[in-house]
Amino acid sequence: MWKGRLAILAILVVSVLAGLSMFTVRGAGNNQLEVYSWWTGPGEEDGLAAMAKAFEGANPGVRFVNAAVSGGAGSNAKAILASRLLANDPPDSYQRHAGLELLDDVRSGKVQDLTELYHQQGWTKVFPKGLVDNLTIDGRIYAVPVNIHRANLMWYSPRTLKDLGLPGPPKTWAEFLQQADAIKAKGRTPLAVGPEWSQKHLLETVLLGELGADKYERLFNGGISWLSPDVTAALGTFAKVLGVSDVKSAAGDWQPQLDKVLSGSAVYAVMGDWSSSYLEQSKKLRWETDYNVAASPGTEGVYDFLSDSFTLPTGARRPDLARKWLVECGSAAGQNLFNPLKGSIPARTDADAGLYKGYLGWALRQWRDPNTRIVGSLTHGVVANNAYNAEIDSALGLFVQHGDQGRFARTVEQQFRETQ
Ligand code: GAL
Repeated sequence: MWKGRLAILAILVVSVLAGLSMFTVRGAGNNQLEVYSWWTGPGEEDGLAAMAKAFEGANPGVRFVNAAVSGGAGSNAKAILASRLLANDPPDSYQRHAGLELLDDVRSGKVQDLTELYHQQGWTKVFPKGLVDNLTIDGRIYAVPVNIHRANLMWYSPRTLKDLGLPGPPKTWAEFLQQADAIKAKGRTPLAVGPEWSQKHLLETVLLGELGADKYERLFNGGISWLSPDVTAALGTFAKVLGVSDVKSAAGDWQPQLDKVLSGSAVYAVMGDWSSSYLEQSKKLRWETDYNVAASPGTEGVYDFLSDSFTLPTGARRPDLARKWLVECGSAAGQNLFNPLKGSIPARTDADAGLYKGYLGWALRQWRDPNTRIVGSLTHGVVANNAYNAEIDSALGLFVQHGDQGRFARTVEQQFRETQ
């Protein structure tokens, strides 16, 4: 009997202590800033840690709480964040991509208007106009961009290409499929893929390469149909490309996907340029000699961009600290600290180009080249709202599993109209 009472007492004490510790961790009076992202991998984590250190240095006595949740492209983080926002328990600042990904948060009042902060900091003059447009909804600006990433890239090992006698990375998807025959004949996998989001990332780059930038943009703004002959042909190419990939034994995330290319078991991988920090900092490889990268087939001269940005949530416990964090994210010093480690280029047009070497130097030159055509990423939040993106995810999962291309196109076409 007394044992039972003791157990109940113990549970009560633990709950009270847990409640108290929740209070100390989350309480409004706390001198800490909770920042939410999905940067837990090598490179990205280091970039975030560098900014956190600078933030704590500039704000003595304030603790930076890194609330990152692992999973590439925010695959886990976004779901957990959604339940926190629903429960009105936001972090002090959270990661979102520039573009339509922000729309729901804005329309449902989850994030605060940062237009005044932009004017105060002079940001409309130092961020490219196209990027600010992607952070603006109904005339107000809602997030601060820390970087620019490129999605349309194909990674490879020059040594593997040499061993297999391949002339160089393919310039079109037709050429890729030709190379794939030769690669398969030598017992290797032509293309490594990762989890579902990476398969959508592949779809996006095949569509871009096959349709070209204009039609790609029109596909996502309703200007052309998923059932049109061009898109039907592009989806057919995507099915063939998947057919020569290792999708049946797909890697768990983007780093193991790249590992297959490094080991030589697979020849190519399509992935964004966060890969560069993984390859250089974690694997200690050098651009052009140990690893190399080209625009994904058919997309030379096109920059399929995305931008990691931070918000000020409604109900943030420390909006004062969150504003200071956002100022650091948008500052030249913050961006120069973060991006060389993260494997991205600065969103600011006045950031120090000399800090960006190797692959990143090449990326920055292309981004700033006035002849480069910029389009927005599907998978990473720019061109499709969250409801539409989620419908594409479900339909794509079935397409990859059952190969029913017609059903995929019909579903996505219909969902476009229903989710606008
Ligand atoms: C993207 C994000 C990048 C990187 C990548 C892989 O969505 O913008 O910063 O984290 O996912 O996780």
